[in-house]
Amino acid sequence: MKIILAYSGGLDTSIAIKWLKDKYNAEIICYTTNVGQVEDVKKLSAKAKKTGATKLYFDDLRQKFVDDYVIPSLKAGALYQDKYPLATALSRPLIVEGMVKVARKERADALAHGCTGKGNDQVRFELTTRYLSPELQVIAPVREWEFKSREDEIEYAKKHNIPTPVTKKKPYSIDWNLWGISIECGKLENPWNEPPEDAYQITVSSEKAPAKPEYITIGFEKGVPLSLNGKKMDILKLIERLTKLGGKHGVGRIDMVEDRLVGIKSREIYEAPAAVILHTAHNALEKLVFSRDLFEFKKIVSQRYSQLTYFGQWFSQIKQCLDSFVENSQRFVTGEVRIKLYKGNCIVTGRKSSYSLYSETLATYTEKDLFDHTAAKGFLEIFGLPSKLEGLREK
Ligand code: ARG
Repeated sequence: MKIILAYSGGLDTSIAIKWLKDKYNAEIICYTTNVGQVEDVKKLSAKAKKTGATKLYFDDLRQKFVDDYVIPSLKAGALYQDKYPLATALSRPLIVEGMVKVARKERADALAHGCTGKGNDQVRFELTTRYLSPELQVIAPVREWEFKSREDEIEYAKKHNIPTPVTKKKPYSIDWNLWGISIECGKLENPWNEPPEDAYQITVSSEKAPAKPEYITIGFEKGVPLSLNGKKMDILKLIERLTKLGGKHGVGRIDMVEDRLVGIKSREIYEAPAAVILHTAHNALEKLVFSRDLFEFKKIVSQRYSQLTYFGQWFSQIKQCLDSFVENSQRFVTGEVRIKLYKGNCIVTGRKSSYSLYSETLATYTEKDLFDHTAAKGFLEIFGLPSKLEGLREK
């Protein structure tokens, strides 16, 4: 048997190599990606082999992540439960796509992942595998094995000469990619606790943020962010740039209690400066160029889109259909948005577009006003009719 294992080099997936090898009498091939976190590939590869894997595949998927996942989700306005920009959730189907390719090349029988039995990631992993390659088996060692604690795992590692992380266990579980960081466990598990400062990885507190605001202008073309302060910029670079800028001003911290697919409520904090800035700007531009009907209806689509992403249904026909709607909706989402970054806040201070539906001569209260006030009388006669009928009935 041949198994492709999603490998991070951490304790769980290191042990998984040996455990899978023994339990399934299998050859283990590790798979690692770069989705924006920092990783030393050479070290990782050496470690995987030392632990018993025959090889390690490494893919730099950053560009694909941005093009095929991040940008579509931005256009869709996908924020799970109105807040979480879905960084972790979006990366899972991407990683599985890569693993399936390797599995085909290697003629492997199964994919394995290090997700637990109570999280969302197992769902994303397994639904994506089923969709992309229904014939592949999926194995989740962490759900199956006998270890009850980290200590058990370390003991097993020592016994089998598996290199264990030298550093003391960090109090948090952290998932990192270019669209954001997800942080849970430790003190965060009590939702009443304010997140300790050391939980945050890339943003400063608003107290430590500069006392002077910073203004930035983001340009969009058909819903895609393409420039910063008037200068064209590659999207990947733009995201990196906004991550730094936002982080410096304490922008992008999200503290939420969310509903996992398995029914558990969990407290998680996120740092997603670029995602928060871009979603804020994108939404402001849509408000300028969308009709009221489109704006309100797209909210429903955004919500459903975020659920599908969160629940591991990125690959599904309904998601494809929503993508078509979203794509069409972006035809006029071209223009610029000015944002003020200041002490943890991301404030829209201006927006413009050559496709704007905003008309100053209709909105103004000055003598430039072109709105036909006399027309309002007849309009209210008719629009107010149902209210009048109900009012009469109440009497
Ligand atoms: N709650 C987030 C999700 O389901 C992140 C999960 C992973 N979090 C972590 N700290 N490892 O998408």
